[in-house]
Amino acid sequence: MDMRIVLVTGDGIGPDIVREAVRVLDRTAEIFGHTISYREIDAGGISIDKYKVPLTEDALETAKAADAVLLGAVGGPKWDSMPGSLRPEKALLGLRSGLGLFCNFRPAVLYPELAAASPLKDSTIAKGVDLLVVRELTGGIYFGEKGRSDDGKSAYDVMRYSVPEIRRIARKAFDAAMIRHRRVTLVDKANVLETSRLWRETVSEVAAEYPEVVLDFMYVDNASMQLVRDPSHFDVLLTENMFGDILSDEASMITGSIGMLASASLRDDSFGMYEPIHGSAPDIAGKNIANPIATILSAAMMLRYSFSLEKEAKCIENAVSKALSDGVRTADIAGDGEERVGTAECGDEIIRRLG
Ligand code: IPM
Ligand code: MG
Repeated sequence: MDMRIVLVTGDGIGPDIVREAVRVLDRTAEIFGHTISYREIDAGGISIDKYKVPLTEDALETAKAADAVLLGAVGGPKWDSMPGSLRPEKALLGLRSGLGLFCNFRPAVLYPELAAASPLKDSTIAKGVDLLVVRELTGGIYFGEKGRSDDGKSAYDVMRYSVPEIRRIARKAFDAAMIRHRRVTLVDKANVLETSRLWRETVSEVAAEYPEVVLDFMYVDNASMQLVRDPSHFDVLLTENMFGDILSDEASMITGSIGMLASASLRDDSFGMYEPIHGSAPDIAGKNIANPIATILSAAMMLRYSFSLEKEAKCIENAVSKALSDGVRTADIAGDGEERVGTAECGDEIIRRLG
């Protein structure tokens, strides 16, 4: 297969971790006889520095022409004082909406080898956590009308959802549940928000198309509590944009492995954008310290979802698991007294185990 991939290395540790994912992808392609061509675009702080905007039209057009996008991370303190429309994060939002990526999969999995890194390690609570946050990504309060009154003394952000928007993300969640444990929990605030009530109605209608899947509802405040109390209760958590942002951070922390978790942003065809869920960690950028595993696992997700290369994706995931069971640890996941490897060495260890 020929794959056309756009790389967005971005800011901070972005270049360090994307470099390792590309090496893993190249070796995997070589083993299985595929070819990959890459194009790079600037997005985030680096684009602000070069072009004065977080994402240029050109960069977006280049991304649109690819089969898939692999992104490192954007942002950093250097650009924190920029006005809202010029912040590096705008690049992410611009890519998500410009590419129509309405569906965000954020799996949170506890790796048994790393159980000691979970803040819940002293109990059995985190054991066996394997859940998928399905977050709506191009609607809601993130993209609703926003503004200030003339005197600047009041501000608003509008949360709006339509039935088609809810229906398409709900189908993605139920499809995902069908190949998992067949449980969907819709997280909302239906006791207060009209949008949430529309979500409940619409998701219940979609549920009727999936009789094998059990649907339940949970208010977001309760869900944030249940995630810490009994996370293994959850299979697929379906939610709107902002609740998904918040809950996916919480879910990832339960596993203690934020440097390990990948994500996919999808639409209805095979195109997707793949990125680690962690940020740009500017304090350790360029120091060969960052953990590249989340980006490497994002590349595996890309092979699975955008190219239907299940064997190849598994091969990368198995190589990561083997490296972990053999004790390969970057600083963020190393326990006391455990030997630490750098970013590039971690990449080497995974590549050696690809087969
Ligand atoms: C995320 C991030 C982004 C979001 C920010 C950087 C705009 O927190 O991907 O979760 O809020 O969606
Ligand atoms: Mg977030």
